Amino acid sequence: MKVLLIGSGGREHVIAETIARSKQRPDLYAVMSRKNPGTARLCRDFLIANEDVESVIPYARSKGIDLAVIGPEAPLDLGLADALEDDGIPCLGPRYAPAQIELDKAWARIFMRKHHINGCPVFEVIEEGDVDGAHAVIERLGDVAVKPAGLTGGKGVRVMGDHFSDIEGAKSYASELLNAGKVVIEENLKGEEFTVQALTDGETLAFAPAVQDHKRAYDGDRGPNTGGMGSYSDAGDILPFMRKQDYEDAKEIMRDTIKNLKKYAGVYKGVLYGQFMLTAKGVKVIEFNARFGDPEVMNVLPLLHTDFVDILSAIADETLSDINVEFERLATVCKYLVPAGYPENPVKDTVVEIGDTGDALLFYSSVYEKEGQVYTTGSRAIAVLGIAQTIEDAEKIASSGLSGIDGDLRARSDIGTAALVQKRIEHAARLRGL
Ligand code: AMP
Ligand code: GLY
Repeated sequence: MKVLLIGSGGREHVIAETIARSKQRPDLYAVMSRKNPGTARLCRDFLIANEDVESVIPYARSKGIDLAVIGPEAPLDLGLADALEDDGIPCLGPRYAPAQIELDKAWARIFMRKHHINGCPVFEVIEEGDVDGAHAVIERLGDVAVKPAGLTGGKGVRVMGDHFSDIEGAKSYASELLNAGKVVIEENLKGEEFTVQALTDGETLAFAPAVQDHKRAYDGDRGPNTGGMGSYSDAGDILPFMRKQDYEDAKEIMRDTIKNLKKYAGVYKGVLYGQFMLTAKGVKVIEFNARFGDPEVMNVLPLLHTDFVDILSAIADETLSDINVEFERLATVCKYLVPAGYPENPVKDTVVEIGDTGDALLFYSSVYEKEGQVYTTGSRAIAVLGIAQTIEDAEKIASSGLSGIDGDLRARSDIGTAALVQKRIEHAARLRGL
């Protein structure tokens, strides 16, 4: 079995590890835009090239690839899943049409409204240049989030109270964005965020445990938004601040989404990532992604008990319902080391020295290898993962793992600590009016 992985980040490193431990002993190949040392080490062969149709298809043909896994969203936007499937190579990663659920936030909201998917906030889509329309919607909704419709790596969304203090701030950000394309303006959802990721063949969904990411750059949820500084999960499906019903509600929303995508945009094969807000009025959808989350994938794939290549084959054959997808019941804490100054003025091309990380697992993210040395790129560099019976113990393992890595890097120290988890529990209790 020859499996091709597309992507060069931390998400792809953990995917590569999960493919490599399959009992089918697959041969792993990769196309990556830069040499990820973790992924490269697991590959029989790899190509350093753009993660696009022009590079991937000839390479996949030349290697006789059986199955492909697309890690990031950018290749989906280039129609890579369509090109692979049309070439006879089944692929984890949806075709361009159903991938719009991530690629176009305006499309996603209109889809949700049209199909009466639960958890959709009040929103309006504003066409490019319609500044008066945007201002009228902001006046009407008051407390809003303003989002560019296209891909922004999670960094284009701005929320009242966080990024601007009043309606005037929202208007000026919307006006600026409208020069470049459509904008979604929606109610500002208040609550606790959580992520649910599912593998799907377009019919059946296999759900991973819920995870909570930490977007803000600094301890105490301060500073600018990032791609995600770290994340945790509990032993079992839900997080300590959630009720079982919150997870069930999120799962139902995701099942309904896949069912309606099939009718509206075609069969969706891949990962559906649901980002949810637990609010005083129940579970709401912040957004969907068409791939695993980074860092959230690190919390779930190392716990996957079922053979991943069996799952990939079942997704290809649309027989996922025949497989029992299981995750170990253990807690995890993931912490990202990022370059000093990240995300605003990160140092780049600095050396990272990796020593003894103890019991922590290590995943290489936005780094590259040159002449045996690992260098930063300016984005999130290295993730460490602790796995234990409790979140608290997993946090200790992750933290001591960090101390084995040297470089001009920093991490958040509060992710997964008992104090921060307790804050989340109290916040959720207040939301529920307890
Ligand atoms: P996204 O790129 O849609 O994941 O948004 C990035 C972050 O912005 C999310 O993780 C939330 O913290 C925040 N966000 C997005 N939409 C909303 C909303 N409607 N209300 C409140 N916060 C939001
Ligand atoms: N951690 C958020 C994302 O992967 O979109």
